[in-house]
Amino acid sequence: MTNETPIVRLNHLRLDRGGRAVLRDIHLDVPRGSIVAVLGPSGSGKSTLLAALTGELAPAAGSVEVFGQAVPQGRRALLELRKGIGVLLQGNGLLTDLTAAENVALPLRAHTNLPDAVIRQLVLMKLHAVGLRAVADSYPRELSGGMARRVALARALALDPPLMIYDEPLTGLDPIASGVVMELVKRLNDTLGLTSIVVTHHVHETLPVADHAIVIANGGIVFSGTPAQLEASEDPFVRQFLNGEPDGPIAFDAAPRNSEAA
Ligand SMILES: Nc1ncnc2c1ncn2[C@@H]1O[C@H](COP(=O)(O)OP(=O)(O)OP(=O)(O)O)[C@@H](O)[C@H]1O
Ligand SMILES: [Mg+2]
Repeated sequence: MTNETPIVRLNHLRLDRGGRAVLRDIHLDVPRGSIVAVLGPSGSGKSTLLAALTGELAPAAGSVEVFGQAVPQGRRALLELRKGIGVLLQGNGLLTDLTAAENVALPLRAHTNLPDAVIRQLVLMKLHAVGLRAVADSYPRELSGGMARRVALARALALDPPLMIYDEPLTGLDPIASGVVMELVKRLNDTLGLTSIVVTHHVHETLPVADHAIVIANGGIVFSGTPAQLEASEDPFVRQFLNGEPDGPIAFDAAPRNSEAA
């Protein structure tokens, strides 16, 4: 993989869920070092797209390349790939009966044979990176929502993955905590030389730190460009999404109505 090889490359990608296409003919290159925002209404397929990157969901057609190679099918190769991808899922997924430090240590214990003292040092470094070294021995219930999200971020960083993917990192956070988390995403990306993909419907908090944005709706990419181009777009899909209007070209319930008739 050369420096110019995109960290993620999607080509003619189709992804199916429950026997129906959620996304069709998706093309995307994510250059090394960039932050890409994946925007779109609820149910448009944002989490589904991320599932394809981690190999959780195999393409129905087309290809998904991560780190210059097709996402493998075999279990062993998949585990190896996933060590290189830090994932912050929708919700924190912190274990409530473990301290912040113990939560961050989980991936290190699962994937390395390092001695406890070394793991402790690495954990403290990760917590320091998110500004939370002081709460290492606190339990998640003792932390604010924003702090808990940052602990989850530290855990996602534990194995020094070159690629970070965030699924709705701002859900449930107030504007101040949201600003702190997005600043952190940007700072970690730049100082650690990461590449980041941020899935969100928090457009206004995310665009300022993004290099590139895509909007997905109605089963495809309806916009791909810089945040400035997005803000300036006259496209009716984009305007409807940015303005949060219920009526317009984006069909909000993606699922066929007759399948869930009351
Ligand atoms: N495991 C599954 N089985 C069947 N259908 C699924 C599954 N997961 C998601 N879907 C469907 O795929 C579509 C896209 O879902 P997805 O979770 O990717 O949306 P999203 O953009 O992440 O939405 P949100 O913003 O609400 O998280 C939806 O219509 C959803 O019902
Ligand atoms: Mg989702």
